[in-house]
Amino acid sequence: MNWWENSAARIVSGCFLVAGRPAESWVRRIGTPLFVYSRDRLVENYRRLRALFDAALDVEVRIAYAMKANPFPPLLETLRREGAWIDAVSPGEVDRARRSGYPEDCILYTGTSGSEADFRSVLARPGIVLNIDAVEQIAVMRSALGRGRRGTAPRISVRWNPGIGSGFNPKVITAGERSSDGTPIKFGIEESRVLDAYEAAASAGFRPVGLHQHLGSGWTEDDYPSVVQAVDRMMDMAGQVLRAGFPLEFLDLGGGFGPRYAKAPKPFPVGRYARLIGRSLRRARLGIRSIAVEPGKYLAADAGVLLLRVNYVKKSYGNLFACVDGGTFNTLPRPAVYGAVHEVINATRPSGRRAPVTVAGNLCETGDVFAKDAMMAVPESGDVLAILCAGAYGRSMASEFNLRPIARETLA
Ligand SMILES: Cc1ncc(COP(=O)(O)O)c(C=O)c1O
Repeated sequence: MNWWENSAARIVSGCFLVAGRPAESWVRRIGTPLFVYSRDRLVENYRRLRALFDAALDVEVRIAYAMKANPFPPLLETLRREGAWIDAVSPGEVDRARRSGYPEDCILYTGTSGSEADFRSVLARPGIVLNIDAVEQIAVMRSALGRGRRGTAPRISVRWNPGIGSGFNPKVITAGERSSDGTPIKFGIEESRVLDAYEAAASAGFRPVGLHQHLGSGWTEDDYPSVVQAVDRMMDMAGQVLRAGFPLEFLDLGGGFGPRYAKAPKPFPVGRYARLIGRSLRRARLGIRSIAVEPGKYLAADAGVLLLRVNYVKKSYGNLFACVDGGTFNTLPRPAVYGAVHEVINATRPSGRRAPVTVAGNLCETGDVFAKDAMMAVPESGDVLAILCAGAYGRSMASEFNLRPIARETLA
């Protein structure tokens, strides 16, 4: 069995299956470019995560799906039936979550650079917990709340920046002072201002209930040491918030655990992480009732496959190109934007003669390549290629760049 095989993508008797059916049959029915998501794999990912956290913690565990990873309604509905909560980052995501059946009080809203209109729209749904990203945001929220409003105070949590970030690329490290390429980190509230944030929010008519952090995205085993440090800092900060007189119902540790995009490096040890959180929580004796995590990639990425058709195979200066009928920037931007690696399989002839192939998209950009010199069964014109682990930050980041139509998607 190949390292990447799962219920979304596997080879059975020489035939490449996507969500249980031959890739070619999906393409004949719907066309390319096409995202196919496997319900079985999505559910397996959710249940595995739930089992690991439930076994390690003796408090309620909320698995809040970061829907920015993939907001396809059938996928959201599948996770809701499993008991997921939602991490939403825009009024549009809140609407999508509500239409997919998520109750208001299962939604945490973590916007960044929110406008008064954004907050008005979120505050119109009183069950939602609003996660504060900046002390300066509280004045905008207060205007949105309106003067003289009666009724129960809207619940808030504070997203703090614990000073440590971790992620697979500088663009997705979301905590610390600066990212690994020097970009100032825009997210969260610095340590010295966290208590001020609770104070200001309470004075503005909001009810503090949570503390939140999110370090970054796409963790592998190499990220474990920095993540451990950040868990310690979270417990310490929660203690300070409680001692300052603000009750905390939940601690939210964000998302970040990566799926397996490539054979190496080793995946992030999620079970070990859950046990670490359990131990830290017991040791800290904070009286916290719930722990939340916000996986996006971990749930959706390896449940999705992107299918593309080879228009022709081109040779130039010794390079071999499979020229496909979709582009990176407008279909699956991760390779172009982050230099991310995705395994590519020739779905038409999976066990054909192998050679290095560059999979080039149909956009006017040199960076529009899905894979560089990837070892794969050499394609012929008309073959179908499968880009694996494409279920997260693919279709959700798609655009009409070059006025190419946006890829279709299906869940089975
Ligand atoms: C606040 C927050 N939570 C969760 C996530 C999900 O991250 P991942 O998909 O790596 O699990 C993100 C990603 O940007 C985020 O910003």
